Amino acid sequence: MSITLNDTRGGSAQPGGEEILAIRGGRPLSGRVSVKGAKNLVTKAMVAALLGETTSVLRDVPNISDVAVVRSLLEVHGVHVSEGDEPGSLVMDPSEVESAHMEEIDAYAGSSRIPILFCGPLLHRLGQAFIPDLGGCRIGDRPIDFHLDALRKFGAVVEKLPSGIRLSAPQGLKGANIHLPYPSVGATEQVLLTAVRASGTTELKNAAIEPEIMDLIGVLQKMGAIISYEPNRVIVIEGVDELRGYDHRAIFDRNEAASWAAAALATDGEIFVEGARQQDMLTFLNAVRRMNGDFDIREDGILFRRGGELRPVTVETDVHPGFMTDWQQPLIVAMTQAEGESIVHETVYENRFGFTDALNKMGANIVVHPHGLQDGPRRVPRRQLEQAAVINGKTALHGADIVVPDLRGGYSHVIAALTAEGESTVRNIGIIRRGYERLLEKLTDLGADFDVVG
Ligand code: EPU
Repeated sequence: MSITLNDTRGGSAQPGGEEILAIRGGRPLSGRVSVKGAKNLVTKAMVAALLGETTSVLRDVPNISDVAVVRSLLEVHGVHVSEGDEPGSLVMDPSEVESAHMEEIDAYAGSSRIPILFCGPLLHRLGQAFIPDLGGCRIGDRPIDFHLDALRKFGAVVEKLPSGIRLSAPQGLKGANIHLPYPSVGATEQVLLTAVRASGTTELKNAAIEPEIMDLIGVLQKMGAIISYEPNRVIVIEGVDELRGYDHRAIFDRNEAASWAAAALATDGEIFVEGARQQDMLTFLNAVRRMNGDFDIREDGILFRRGGELRPVTVETDVHPGFMTDWQQPLIVAMTQAEGESIVHETVYENRFGFTDALNKMGANIVVHPHGLQDGPRRVPRRQLEQAAVINGKTALHGADIVVPDLRGGYSHVIAALTAEGESTVRNIGIIRRGYERLLEKLTDLGADFDVVG
């Protein structure tokens, strides 16, 4: 495998975004796809490699452009990155970490959200850090206030510059008591990556507990960190003076697994997702079953298909162990094929239904309520952010000319085009490569009928 910067086309905001597909839909997707390491763990574990004194090996790394961006940022800081002894493995040698020039780092401005996680490790290694403006999907404001507040509690001095932020830690970093206003995935990772080498103990309350975070804790423990996970979203980290490298096989990508499952339901196909594991997908599998989707749990993966006519369902996105916000977009395509009214309450991001415009253009009947539906309490009430989508099915979808807006919305556009009768032109396909490895090859393996036309 080669993970190269070419995949990011120079670190542009939407890597390789311009690719266009002509998709002829209306036939089931069937066959086998395999999912590798989770994008949302792999990129963080790569940052963790910076904290070690010795070489780290990460296995099952997907060839996606987010990985290429993080690889390049590690290299800019003097980490030597090479392919390992098996396909999909990366070897990261941090023994010559050095300060990078601001211009070199700035080349990656707008390319990903992961650079914000370099703060703690760079402060430990170099005493300073420059973080470029962040990228990632445009699905809401995506502020970094929780990150910066936490870093300040550790003793970091944060200076906002026109093109990013500069951090220093004149007194070193010290353990802190941090209570997150919301169980943010990124802010929890920020605290973990900073606390493991801060002096003293850090107590983090209201932490995110996604399986990818538990896997990151596993990586850090292999490196020599002391981290205990306590009841009620509390994580306690005892800082240590030195960490070593790790050898770790990344947890599978449950978001990609759920995406292929939704594709099977939407197109009335049968897809075996090799590498998917039941335990990390229990909430998703319940939604599939309520929709009259069927699944067969096997030792090496999960087979997804319909169990008969699809039924409507109501889901509410939430932090783990709730229904992930990244699952709703592909599943909404399947909901357009269920007879009756489905509802999706989005409570994590404030702007994550933009992709439904294209589905409506293709014949779906989806009404977005930008301020949510006031119909009962949510598990984590965030009324100021909440929106709802009401999907009335079953609607026949037809081909259309559509533009991919973001990663998960874009994947759902492709699945909608494959569900629709007739030909669709889907633009900006490259955005989907940020998180879906070998997308076109996998679609071909599943019998999709398409051409790359631009
Ligand atoms: N938030 C703040 N302030 C902060 C940080 C977060 O207000 O400082 C808010 C966000 O605006 C959002 C909520 O908290 O409303 C949750 O954000 P979180 O920090 O949990 O998300 P993230 O770390 O930026 C990761 C994934 C997302 C995934 C979310 C939720 C990565 C690189 N990204 O984002 O994945 O949706 O957690 O699970 O891990 C994707 O894969 O397509 C994707 C967007």
